[in-house]
Amino acid sequence: MERVVITEGPEDTMRLGEELARELRAGDVVALVGELGSGKTTLAKGIAQGLFVREPVISPSFLLARTYRGQMPLHHLDAYRVNSPQELVEVGLTELLPPEEGVTVVEWADRVEELIPPGNLWIRLEHLDGDRRKLTLRR
Ligand SMILES: Nc1ncnc2c1ncn2[C@@H]1O[C@H](COP(=O)(O)OP(=O)(O)OP(=O)(O)O)[C@@H](O)[C@H]1O
Ligand SMILES: [Mg+2]
Repeated sequence: MERVVITEGPEDTMRLGEELARELRAGDVVALVGELGSGKTTLAKGIAQGLFVREPVISPSFLLARTYRGQMPLHHLDAYRVNSPQELVEVGLTELLPPEEGVTVVEWADRVEELIPPGNLWIRLEHLDGDRRKLTLRR
């Protein structure tokens, strides 16, 4: 099942994230794929808002992963610097895939694709002109 959404700006992408958050259940993974600046972190911020996370969500790049408290824990994982799935295994982050508690949002999920359990939501983000982005959602 595939759904395409065009967003007109960051607020729009956040709103979509907020909506998606309502359908998330503990143990879910949201896999985000898209080039630099396509809006992955922006979408993650929207998901955080939808889960009533109060802390500001920042890009986890240097830490690889951060966990926020909300309605349930939100684990935000950034695989940008991960060169192979094995690296995630080595640092013990596969415990977030899937998470025992809460949900995990993964940026650059294509880099660790084989670690993501089947049946989860994949979202591909693409630049269109200006502030428009095309998001393709697939489960
Ligand atoms: N429709 C849109 N959706 C999301 N972000 C948008 C949109 N239009 C413009 N932007 C801007 O594009 C940038 C997206 O940055 P963001 O950090 O979310 O991207 P990213 O995919 O996480 O990048 P990175 O690969 O570096 O982690 C932000 O500056 C945001 O304001
Ligand atoms: Mg990002």
